[in-house]
Amino acid sequence: MDKAQILVASNRGPVSFSINDDGSLSHRRGGGGLVSGLSSVAAENDTLWVCAALSDADRTAAAADPDGRLDRAGFDLGSMRVRMLDIPSATFSNAYTAVANSTLWFVHHLLYDTPNKPAYGAAFRAQWEDYRAYNSAFCEALLTGASDNARVAVQDYHLALVPRMARGRRPDLRIAHFQHTPWAPPEYFRMLPAEIRRELLEGMLGADHLGFLSARWADAFLQCCETFLGSKVNWDKRSIEYGGRVIEVGVHPLGADGAALRERAAAGDVAERRAALRERVGDTKLIVRVDRTELSKNIVRGLEAYRELLATRPEWRGRVTHLAFAYPSRGDVAEYREYTESVQRVAKEINEEFGTADWTPLILEVNDDFPRSLAAYQMADALLVNPIRDGMNLVAKEGPVLSHDGCVLVLSSEAGAADELGSDALLVNPFDVSETADALHSALSMPEEQRRARCERLVEAAVALPPHRWFNEQLRALK
Ligand code: F6P
Repeated sequence: MDKAQILVASNRGPVSFSINDDGSLSHRRGGGGLVSGLSSVAAENDTLWVCAALSDADRTAAAADPDGRLDRAGFDLGSMRVRMLDIPSATFSNAYTAVANSTLWFVHHLLYDTPNKPAYGAAFRAQWEDYRAYNSAFCEALLTGASDNARVAVQDYHLALVPRMARGRRPDLRIAHFQHTPWAPPEYFRMLPAEIRRELLEGMLGADHLGFLSARWADAFLQCCETFLGSKVNWDKRSIEYGGRVIEVGVHPLGADGAALRERAAAGDVAERRAALRERVGDTKLIVRVDRTELSKNIVRGLEAYRELLATRPEWRGRVTHLAFAYPSRGDVAEYREYTESVQRVAKEINEEFGTADWTPLILEVNDDFPRSLAAYQMADALLVNPIRDGMNLVAKEGPVLSHDGCVLVLSSEAGAADELGSDALLVNPFDVSETADALHSALSMPEEQRRARCERLVEAAVALPPHRWFNEQLRALK
């Protein structure tokens, strides 16, 4: 029997390339829920993953055949086939940096500093043309060779137009779109130009099934459809009638891959990092955070909360260390560069204000060291996850899974993860620095028994929908 065909499309793919000193290419498998979710599903199906070439090395790989297993039609990665699209760099930069990351990301995370931005003029309209062209390149790649009735899983805000484009050409396909970010409420979404609001919503409504990480984001999407398209929503079923079809909207709260995470964390490099960190922090208690250097992650207010903790509760001075690990991200967006600088500035101030000859209150690292993050999760007494707004936030789920002694999670009410973890985390308003400082104090002071019991329940909730089940749920919704 032929295996069923599944096509996946996402901007960032399951693998990235780098160029070695001798000019040859190496590849590295990506992490993240989608990659691990797909690996097991790919083994049972005929799976093609279409993604964009993101770096010069990816572009070289997409255009050449450096190691004899790659061609323009794609290459095999384990049991799936991957096709990297070499989109012209100006088109890619307008679509990814200007529209997806500097506009749609800002809208859905409510990030605009509105007295100055946004201002959608002719330049933005031209960038939008490229966003459309980029979506169209993905659509072409998906349709090339898609078998009858193939199931197509389109991912995220980068590719909102693909479902409608694909349906127009191939009505036989079963199409899902999954949004990994929050969705803006109508009163914020309305700042986008009218024709672009419509194109985005109609683009996604080309799908048969639309997935979101939280009921809050799913409902905001439906409200936008009611408000801006005048479409009929069935709130009991979370479905919507549009263009003579009924589109289902589902909530699929992606969980941590507990088994894979524990296996990775058992490796020697993690133990080495743990020993090195312990050497640096001595026997102080640890507050840990791990994020991308990302505006929505609210790192500066988190550092201010730590500053307030040390200022108002001097008993913690010399007895706690804050480990703040930030992966560099989106350095081609000016706001991200400025934000990273402000994170570094506040961190320096805190160390200057409170540090002593034998105690460094805060260790901030802006670099990419995954095993060190896993080691920090194992050691954390408190895990701080305080985004302004976040689709899910897997750190909140992965940290407790790896915790050795039962960490306390201080969690923003505005993260999707609060839906599942809210009753056993200490929930905070991400804008309230004092409330966050108090929650850090409560976390560090919590009796061991209570801390461990809470953490056990957090782990149970965190792994409730592991990536392979999360992805299968969406595929089942297409049957
Ligand atoms: O979670 C949303 C998301 O855009 C993912 O799709 C993406 O992989 C991640 O954030 C990191 O962003 P980027 O791919 O722009 O580095």
